[in-house]
Amino acid sequence: MSQSCKKAYITTPIYYVNDVPHIGHAYTTIIADTLARYSRLIGHETMFLTGTDEHGQKIEEAAKSRGRTPQAYSDEISGKFKTLWDEFDISYDKFIRTTDEDHKLSVQKAFEVMYEKGDIYKDQYEGFYCVSCETFFTKIQLYDDECCPDCGKPTSIVKEESYFFNLSKYEDQLLAWYSDNEKCVLPKGKKNEVINFVKQGLNNLSITRTSFDWGVKLPESINDPKHVMYVWLDALMNYITALGYGRDEEHMAYWKDGTSVQLLGKDILRFHAIYWPAFLMSLELPLPTHIGAHGWWTRNGEKMSKSKGNVVNPKEVADAYGLENFRYFLLREVPFGQDGDFSQKALIDRINSDLGNDLGNLLNRIIGMSGKYNDLHIDSKDLLKYHQKEVDAANTIIETLETYIFDLQLNRFLEDLWKILTLANQSITTYEPWTKMKEGKKDEAMALVALVANLLAKVSIMLHAVMPKTTQTIAHALGFEITQTTYIDIITNKEALKPFTITKVPPLFPRIEDEILKSPEPTPTQKEKKEEKKTEGIITIDQFFETKIKIATILEAQEVPKSDRLLKLKVDVGEEEPRQVIAGIKEFYAPGSLVGTQACLVANLKPAKIMGMLSQGMLLAAKDKEGLSLIRPESPKRSGTAVG
Ligand code: MSP
Repeated sequence: MSQSCKKAYITTPIYYVNDVPHIGHAYTTIIADTLARYSRLIGHETMFLTGTDEHGQKIEEAAKSRGRTPQAYSDEISGKFKTLWDEFDISYDKFIRTTDEDHKLSVQKAFEVMYEKGDIYKDQYEGFYCVSCETFFTKIQLYDDECCPDCGKPTSIVKEESYFFNLSKYEDQLLAWYSDNEKCVLPKGKKNEVINFVKQGLNNLSITRTSFDWGVKLPESINDPKHVMYVWLDALMNYITALGYGRDEEHMAYWKDGTSVQLLGKDILRFHAIYWPAFLMSLELPLPTHIGAHGWWTRNGEKMSKSKGNVVNPKEVADAYGLENFRYFLLREVPFGQDGDFSQKALIDRINSDLGNDLGNLLNRIIGMSGKYNDLHIDSKDLLKYHQKEVDAANTIIETLETYIFDLQLNRFLEDLWKILTLANQSITTYEPWTKMKEGKKDEAMALVALVANLLAKVSIMLHAVMPKTTQTIAHALGFEITQTTYIDIITNKEALKPFTITKVPPLFPRIEDEILKSPEPTPTQKEKKEEKKTEGIITIDQFFETKIKIATILEAQEVPKSDRLLKLKVDVGEEEPRQVIAGIKEFYAPGSLVGTQACLVANLKPAKIMGMLSQGMLLAAKDKEGLSLIRPESPKRSGTAVG
């Protein structure tokens, strides 16, 4: 997003309706909502789009298994998403459903344009399909010869007539786009992955299916009624069909003349950063300005899945800990693009520490000081006289903050914003307003209180997009309202707060002592069980090195009375004293032949008693029908040398 641009288009992926909303959906949507709110606050004409992805085999099967029609089932789940976003106060401007008639018309139009251009042709598809990911794979891409490399579920063989999109034609154009547009895919690391993928060569893409029905039909002009569109083609188009593509194009200006920020998870980056721009190239439309791929959330270190029963329900978390606290946590906890772990402990720490101690407590301190020194009245008249340095420092921080938000580095944005809170809290310690009051320097004490109030005002405006209600409460306490106008006054023009009487508010972030939600017991998924099976009997290198094998020099060897098998050995393994080892090798070695030779000894075995004699290790040997051989170094080694 560029600050000079006036039109901003922010999108989330459209969510499949085979499942109810979870933390992953909430995360993407909250990032998008934050950007949209910020964009509006700074005066951009903003359009924020979200919605649901309702076609395809996965949805058809999910509906069938519940004895529902796909439409009725989609209506229900799509409704759940919409309700949740409304409960979460998500400020979307449009909620699109791929079953909307308007959407279908626009997708058909797009298909027609690409077909007429010669980018679509009919052929036979043969390959593997993962219904869960709605993705085609070739044999070599499969995991374990039959499973989806992304989700691990078994794929099915598909052999059917299909229309193809000539994706390979756009390889060079895509590579040029990545290299000419530094921030077209964020973060950088993810962009490099995309570039490497494209450089390996792109296969043309099957974009229609004939083996099921639940999808958008091809345009009538093509007259091939047994085909429905591949769900990803249908779904990706939503970003322009929502703006009226091919119909009433009034809102297409958001796409054509605006800055677009498309948010999504890393798992669907390939669709967005390769297929989608290629479709747009074919349609001769501008490409997105930024495609931002975030990482995945795990729970207490484990991948979330329905079968494990450990999926984080965002509504439950928001109800238990506060919606805005949850928003803050999601954005602050992990760098954009990296995976993050959800745990109640981490959330509680953020609430108690960042929000309670740093932010909430600052407001309490201002209320306390102003109440004690000046009847709750705060005036910025002496602010610059005593605190120009601190005000300048805060303004400098704010100048760099905007770059972070535009680069989707929301965690850096929050981290740096918190530096202003640190500055405010430190200023109280440094200037000791209570001492100033004792010394009769009330002006100085109140200038400090004004400094802290002004710093908090700046923070509340900059934090507004993340915590809309909480920051408005803070602003009201400080005698103003957060609007585009106050943003311009206080942030852009760096104006100080007008004189005001602070309003007392109850603590904003009461301390949380214990986890509020019950944590699920983790159970392994099918894929993990399969992995476990595959790795049964396999050890890691670290596990191997738990066994300490050493070169042992045999000093003495004696027969053990009454035993046909055992010899009693004295071996040197480089320790203070030789060890005694009882070895079952009598049938194969005469005692005398062993003395002075070396063998490998497992040196960290728990000592054992064999026929009443202590044995402090085990010699390694290989035995087959020809006999037994001790495992020895090829040439003599110092006693005690580690083997491994
Ligand atoms: N319908 C497609 C998107 C089509 S967009 C043209 C889809 N839907 S989805 O419902 O499966 O996923 C939507 C988003 O949720 C993706 O961005 C995905 O990355 C995100 N998440 C799903 N699980 C997640 C986590 N555990 N953590 C973070 N986000 C994850 O894909």
